[in-house]
Amino acid sequence: MGRPLSPRALITGITGQDGAYLAELLVDKGYEVHGMVRRASTEKFERIEHLRERITLHQGDLLDQRSLVDAIRASRPDEIYNLAAMSFVAVSWIQPTLTAEFTGVGVTRMLEAMRETAPEARFYQASSSEMFGKVREVPQTESTPFYPRSPYGVAKVYGHHITVNYRESYGLHATSGILFNHESPLRGLEFVTRKITWHAAAIKHGLRDHISLGNLDARRDWGYAKDYVEAMWLMLQQDRADDYVIATGRSNSVRDCVEIAFDQAGLGSWEPYVRLDPQFVRPAEVDHLIGDASKAARELGWRPKTSFEELIRLMVDADMKLLGG
Ligand code: NAP
Ligand code: GDD
Repeated sequence: MGRPLSPRALITGITGQDGAYLAELLVDKGYEVHGMVRRASTEKFERIEHLRERITLHQGDLLDQRSLVDAIRASRPDEIYNLAAMSFVAVSWIQPTLTAEFTGVGVTRMLEAMRETAPEARFYQASSSEMFGKVREVPQTESTPFYPRSPYGVAKVYGHHITVNYRESYGLHATSGILFNHESPLRGLEFVTRKITWHAAAIKHGLRDHISLGNLDARRDWGYAKDYVEAMWLMLQQDRADDYVIATGRSNSVRDCVEIAFDQAGLGSWEPYVRLDPQFVRPAEVDHLIGDASKAARELGWRPKTSFEELIRLMVDADMKLLGG
């Protein structure tokens, strides 16, 4: 059966970094875009403000099965992107069971809601390189065994396996995208790259005089979120659901990030501004996370377009503009 000319998509987590970029991409491609949002005492829709007239929002929460069924029923999606999760690794040690509910069992609730109301739709699960944790091989591929090192990673492993299980048990078109870290000017301020680029800009503008960080030697395979949401879309255009690693294949340290950001902000040497604070050191760290995205290159034609250095420099430029008024 051919794909509809003007497809409908439902995005959970549309108010997050990836949700905002994905919504923009799908609107540009002519999709009717629906998003699921949860109620808060103050609306926080900044990332999708510019799209508000062109998307439809539905109230829903990953903890509430009724609301998931209703959101799918109302949006009648051809494609469902399940991006909603408690996504901050550090907090998953503070709220381990809530993380399991949102980030793990929430995936089953979404799959059940889809099975009941839109079994022909295609489903994307936002899986994570954090599942590789204490890595079993370098670089990591779709067949590398998982060894999660945080309650978040454990919950994501469950979400990944239940997606594969529903694909195999019920024949659902359910795909798991195993994405390595991806950042942007829309990244939450608690994640390390954005924390650094924001502070570099704030120090330059005289709004702060230092930044406190944890492990400067931690390394990640960091890419640009805008490139990565394109991979999500490409995955759901395939006739067969599958698993794909999305990564740049290069790793950098937190120290590298600080160096580039402070240089881009015109601050020169970073050492005088950086304080080490044990509160930002994790109870357990992941090892050498580097992804091998050759399957995505081969089957999806996907390749990262933005280098780590370009990414950090564009994030600093955005924060300089944001704080410069
Ligand atoms: P994010 O900016 O933290 O966005 C998370 C989204 O989930 C927000 O829209 C949030 O809504 C929503 N959400 C959280 N709990 C919810 C609940 N109980 N019910 C409904 N919505 C809920 O995360 P992101 O960076 O865009 O990441 C998107 C997804 O990819 C996440 O699943 C993340 O774990 C995964 N992932 C991210 C990366 C990365 O490097 N960015 C890498 C691999 C995988 P509010 O706005 O209301 O809080
Ligand atoms: N957040 C933070 N704050 N991290 C710090 C700091 C700090 O002050 N100092 C050092 N780090 C180190 C952390 O210890 C970690 O090793 C690394 O910087 C990256 O931390 P985050 O930016 O918080 O990201 P993450 O890798 O834990 O998780 C992100 O990527 C995952 C994919 O592997 C999140 O987006 C997850 O949702 C995602 O699944």
